[in-house]
Amino acid sequence: MRLFHLPGPVRLSAACVLFLGALVSAKAQDDIERKVNDLLSAMTLEEKVGQLNLISHGPPLRWEEISQGKIGALLNFNSAADVARAQALARQSRLKIPPLFGLDILHGFRTQFPIPLGEAAAFSPRLSGVASEWAAREASYLGINWTFAPMADLSRDSRWGRIVEGFGEDPYLGAVLTAARVEGFRKGGLATSAKHFAGYGAPQGGRDYDTTYIPPAEMYDTYLPPFRAAVAAGSVSFMAAFNALNGVPSTANPWLLTEVLRNQWGFDGFVTSDWSGIHELTAHGVAADDAEAARKALLAGVDMDMMGELYVKHLPGEVRAGRVPESAVDEAVRRVLRAKFRLGLFDRPDANPIRSDAEFPSPETRQVAREVARETLVLLQNRNNVLPVAPSVRSIAVIGPLADAARDQLGPHAARGHAQDSVTILQGIRQRAQSAGIAVKYVPACDLFCRTTDQLPAALAAAQEADLVIAAFGEPQDLSGEAASRTRLAPSGKQVEVLEALVATGKPMALVIVAGRPLELGALAQKIPSILMAWYPGTEGGPAVADVLFGDTNPSGKLPLSWPRAVGQLPLYYNRLPTGRPTLHNNRFTLQYLDEAITPLYPFGWGLSYTTFAYKDAAIETPRLNAGDALKVSVTVTNTGARAGQEVVQLYTRDPVASRSRPLRELKAFEKIALEPGQSKRVSFQVPVESLGFHLDDGTYVAEAGAIQVFLGGNAEAEAVGETAIANTIRIPPSQQRASVSATRAQ
Ligand code: BGC
Repeated sequence: MRLFHLPGPVRLSAACVLFLGALVSAKAQDDIERKVNDLLSAMTLEEKVGQLNLISHGPPLRWEEISQGKIGALLNFNSAADVARAQALARQSRLKIPPLFGLDILHGFRTQFPIPLGEAAAFSPRLSGVASEWAAREASYLGINWTFAPMADLSRDSRWGRIVEGFGEDPYLGAVLTAARVEGFRKGGLATSAKHFAGYGAPQGGRDYDTTYIPPAEMYDTYLPPFRAAVAAGSVSFMAAFNALNGVPSTANPWLLTEVLRNQWGFDGFVTSDWSGIHELTAHGVAADDAEAARKALLAGVDMDMMGELYVKHLPGEVRAGRVPESAVDEAVRRVLRAKFRLGLFDRPDANPIRSDAEFPSPETRQVAREVARETLVLLQNRNNVLPVAPSVRSIAVIGPLADAARDQLGPHAARGHAQDSVTILQGIRQRAQSAGIAVKYVPACDLFCRTTDQLPAALAAAQEADLVIAAFGEPQDLSGEAASRTRLAPSGKQVEVLEALVATGKPMALVIVAGRPLELGALAQKIPSILMAWYPGTEGGPAVADVLFGDTNPSGKLPLSWPRAVGQLPLYYNRLPTGRPTLHNNRFTLQYLDEAITPLYPFGWGLSYTTFAYKDAAIETPRLNAGDALKVSVTVTNTGARAGQEVVQLYTRDPVASRSRPLRELKAFEKIALEPGQSKRVSFQVPVESLGFHLDDGTYVAEAGAIQVFLGGNAEAEAVGETAIANTIRIPPSQQRASVSATRAQ
């Protein structure tokens, strides 16, 4: 049984540290520290701050500054020739320190895998690792050695466009997948930068860059676990968030960057700012000028300045004026050099300038991209079993601009992804239909943004003539990602009008949603029988979608977030606290809306299959838990339908009476299993008692004595199966957490 337990702090023993897939022994670490200190003692102050300077390809990059030791890291380099040129220049510098080359590689380099939110729907750390590893392999082939990923920001608000870059709303799923992504990138040859530390995914009103208010205990319980998992998995670096947390911008936040990250978690990598994030401290109103911004950021714990050039401009003067101790600069440089030595950059040959990403996608990467993509597709509803395409169907009308949107299906942050590499949904359907002798007619019905519907009559005519309508609508990728906050989440433009007209033809219909977040479906959810969430499925999205539409693959994706009925429900999440007035439909003065149901349209963890699963004989094998014990639960899951399929078995718990209100449900474990028709499997979970509690504001972890309810099922509405009890309250102060709980990741 594969288990992931990351809620408690990380155990990496003092003697060894996980790094780039290898255990770095204490001796190797000592050697590295010696080399770092030797190098540091040979550096001028200017050379030191040069190591803290991260500059993008293009303006304002002055190439000669690389040979002058003024630039320690570069970003947005995506050709081997440019990487090799910069490496050659670095070799001409006095100390010959190799640069880091960073890029946003979130879900692929040239071959694009599904966007991270979609990948999360696979509920598969294995596949997350595989996708990240392949992305890293392609990028490192060109000499890139650092990715600004994974995004470890939990979000409960799909107005925020960057929800597409993360794992959704759950801290446990987020921790598991963040760790898997860090490990996958490392295996493929990339150092990671877990971002955006921290709380960036909860901006007020869902407005990107806006302020976040999250009490410390809630930070520890909900927003920080994925970041802590990144430390445990050996992330080389972190990136500070743009926005302010409880009034203190993350880029100048000593609590986050020093107290939590370094002192409590023992992180000894480096922290970079986000793009111009240090300069933005003046706009935040916490620094009078750029010099003060540089000073505050460094002293809070930001080691590297991305695209601000403020450290190179101001830190030497600040040190000489006595406002910044040189030891603080030294510590930041030490962290950067340590990473470079650990990555082996001093010993690596330079990039081969003739290498090109045109070698990708290869048949192999296409195959992997397709395998990952089909596990990310979530069948939201399937009334009348419209899907899979029935043998009686002889003709299909494919309608909608997103059926043939080679660029859009790649999603935001597609690194070197090329639209011409994409196999579109239309192409995937055509290829598959052809092999079955099914006729396909395509009419987009409207332009990409569905502003004009000139082709609607032709689309309706095609629908009338077909046995089945497959519509592909949603969110063009320019409406998703950074700086893509939205107040309206209904399908934009005239999409609803077009879909309603298609429904009115009375033809059996399946809607494929291509989008980076849940959309507000309104009446469409009642009117359209079958809906498949495809996210942005990547280069091989078309064949993957066709695999599921035609039933060659049984869908198994599960929602990594609660799908809202209406934007006004946001923020929406399953693991909310109880209230004094639980919802009673016949009592207005209880938790509810007057104009909308209180529940999500589809709950967290939801996703249908073409088969059905039954849960029985759930057993709680540990009725009483002492410190160090694990809650052991098992259940038999049976495939009760006629097709082979996969189910994500989910375990939730609740502490019903505690010293503070605890969530109604919390995901504690999951397991994805494959079952043949009629086959049963006994699934067993083990959850350490030390992950059944919660944090206090100072970071102390408490698992209080008393009952813990247990729920098992295929989504967050899983059934109660009984209780266990924690015998005595367990308290773990922050100072003991680092070396005490959960060794899973270090094994
Ligand atoms: C984003 C980061 C990204 C950086 C570099 C910023 O705008 O917030 O996530 O890594 O740009 O591209």
